[in-house]
Amino acid sequence: MNIEEIRKNLNEDLENASESGKLEELRVKFLGKKGHITEALAGLRNVSGEEKKTLGGAINRLKKEAEILIAEKIIAIKLKEEELMVNAAPLYDLSVPSKTAAGSYHPITLVQRKCEEIFASMGFTIEEYPEVTDDYNCFEAVNIPKDHPARDMQDTYYLENGQLLKTHTSAAQNAIMKKYGAPLRAIFPGRCFRNEATDACHENTFFQMEGIMIDTDISISNLIYFMKKMLSEVFEKDIEVRLRPGFFPFVEPGFELDISCLICGGEGCPSCKNSGWLELCPCGMIHPNVLKEGGIDSEKYTGFAFGLGLTRLAMMKYGIKDIRDLNSGKLANLSQFVS
Ligand code: PHE
Repeated sequence: MNIEEIRKNLNEDLENASESGKLEELRVKFLGKKGHITEALAGLRNVSGEEKKTLGGAINRLKKEAEILIAEKIIAIKLKEEELMVNAAPLYDLSVPSKTAAGSYHPITLVQRKCEEIFASMGFTIEEYPEVTDDYNCFEAVNIPKDHPARDMQDTYYLENGQLLKTHTSAAQNAIMKKYGAPLRAIFPGRCFRNEATDACHENTFFQMEGIMIDTDISISNLIYFMKKMLSEVFEKDIEVRLRPGFFPFVEPGFELDISCLICGGEGCPSCKNSGWLELCPCGMIHPNVLKEGGIDSEKYTGFAFGLGLTRLAMMKYGIKDIRDLNSGKLANLSQFVS
């Protein structure tokens, strides 16, 4: 076949091709080991001199052209096939009622999403952090050196390679500060682990949501504002908050944030041990050592941090009495919450 015949043949075949599966055959027919174009190139060995140059050039141009045309055709046919598939009638009857029960979200997922939505609307980014981390991030970077007694409250599970399961979401603070620098507004929900004996109020696996806000003029009043706003939206009613002093090595000053009792509204009842308040969320102003370790100028910037117990929040919001239910996988308990 001479070049013109091959070109004509190729154009006809391309014209007639309508299935993507057949295009591979077409490619082999022209460009495969024994394909027309490959054979024409092999035929060059019988030609010499000037003619070899011209003919060789022409066959190589045809080869390039064929490669492009075939590739374009494959794309065009695939697109058409996809369109046909999308528009085809479904193979099943959509009107038959389903027998499977609809799934539902875990109560912790529900409160987590609600909190994320609220903080995102206030300009906070939502960050992820692994469950496995190391001593530096979980403790040292947040001002808990090796011999600090605060470590006793957060005994955890260590891996053979020296890493550990994070005991609090504060473990992510250093990495996030280093990633973004200041100013910074971020929340980071996550699963935490502590080596604890379990009972109705304690679990070795639970969820927290940390929040940090760092800027040139951040004070405790910003912290109170954001917490009050967030909690009022989560509980869908106006929530009063109060701060009591609390100690955490990574904040100075540190606080325990209480909310007005959800049951009695502050009057005093058995749920709040007659005090009118429920303990909800440790928080405070980020310690300058933690800012420095995160690469942030502690002379110029200040910030607040809070460690909201998502598990505790879900228990309060939905009136769940035993924390162990949350990790139990008991669908009868867990599937009754919708929002
Ligand atoms: N990380 C602390 C804990 O889990 C909580 C906390 C976070 C306290 C942020 C203050 C500021 O115990």
